Amino acid sequence: MNAILTQIESIKQAFAQDLQKVQTLKEFDDLKVSFLGKKSSLQALLAGMKDLGADERREVGPALQEAKTGIEQALEVARQAFTERKAKAAIDKELYFDVTAKRPGGVRGHIHPYSQAIEEIEDIFMSMGYEVLDGPELETDFYNFTALNIPQDHPARDMYDTFWTNKKSMLMRTHTSPVQVRSMESKELPLAGIVPGRVYRHEAVDATHEIQFLQCEGFFIDKNVTVSHLFATAQTFLKQLFKKDELDIRIRPGFFPFVEPGFEIDMRCPFCSKGCSVCKKSTWMEVFPGGMIHPNVLRAGGIDPDVYSGFAFGFGLSRLVMLKYGIDDIRHLYGGKLKFLEQF
Ligand code: DAH
Repeated sequence: MNAILTQIESIKQAFAQDLQKVQTLKEFDDLKVSFLGKKSSLQALLAGMKDLGADERREVGPALQEAKTGIEQALEVARQAFTERKAKAAIDKELYFDVTAKRPGGVRGHIHPYSQAIEEIEDIFMSMGYEVLDGPELETDFYNFTALNIPQDHPARDMYDTFWTNKKSMLMRTHTSPVQVRSMESKELPLAGIVPGRVYRHEAVDATHEIQFLQCEGFFIDKNVTVSHLFATAQTFLKQLFKKDELDIRIRPGFFPFVEPGFEIDMRCPFCSKGCSVCKKSTWMEVFPGGMIHPNVLRAGGIDPDVYSGFAFGFGLSRLVMLKYGIDDIRHLYGGKLKFLEQF
């Protein structure tokens, strides 16, 4: 074959190969310059045409022209496709993203200390045969007070700074105790349940008071239930929560209208033996109020107090979480500050 035709073929091949590698618009421009520009081999061949004999020119001329327009067209088509691909990729990037993609160095979430504590408390009670129960936060006067032996105008209502609503006799529950009577109505005996949940008090907010916090009510109703069952339950629970093999409890009388007798159950400070800032130097901490369910409360729940008895308790879950983790301000628990949360 004519040497020039061979050269044209190899130019076409080189172009086709280089075109595959183009990644940017600038590289398209560079490719155009190197294959069609003034200093390109193709231009040199075109310029040399005038020195050829007529026969050779007739043979080479059309081949050169065809190579030139071929390269021009291929460049144009590829460049067009390239810009379209780029535009589509930009739109796709906005429209679709990979939700499973790993973000390098990203922040990793974990369970909130509140939820961790609730799960732990539920596990401890479930291991003792309790079920986890639930009730409404928007409660009626009846379940929050009257059924719990706190009738209308009873002074014990002053123990609770209540958020009343503009619906008659509806309030934000001040404690989780209302679920006692609700459960007595809906469940079979014997009944052992705990109710971890949010409660509301119309109080000034400070380091130890929030207008909403967590409580955990608990109760066990059966024949022949006694105060010893209550004390043993309190001790077993506290030992497990604070991971202590031995943990003394102390019992003092306490008044709550829904129990008789009522108690304040204190535990020996799990953090010291001689008194520390957590137990305020006393070595005891007041953590577990409870008592034997008042006959009036059992009656309100449709249970005969001459046949059945039960104990109930209702501890401040927020307070126990604060004690367990050494948190000094209840407001941290709702603040959502990562610096705080990342410690757990
Ligand atoms: N409901 C009480 C409160 O919010 C806590 C409580 C105390 C619950 C003694 C009980 C109990 O069931 O026996 O202050």
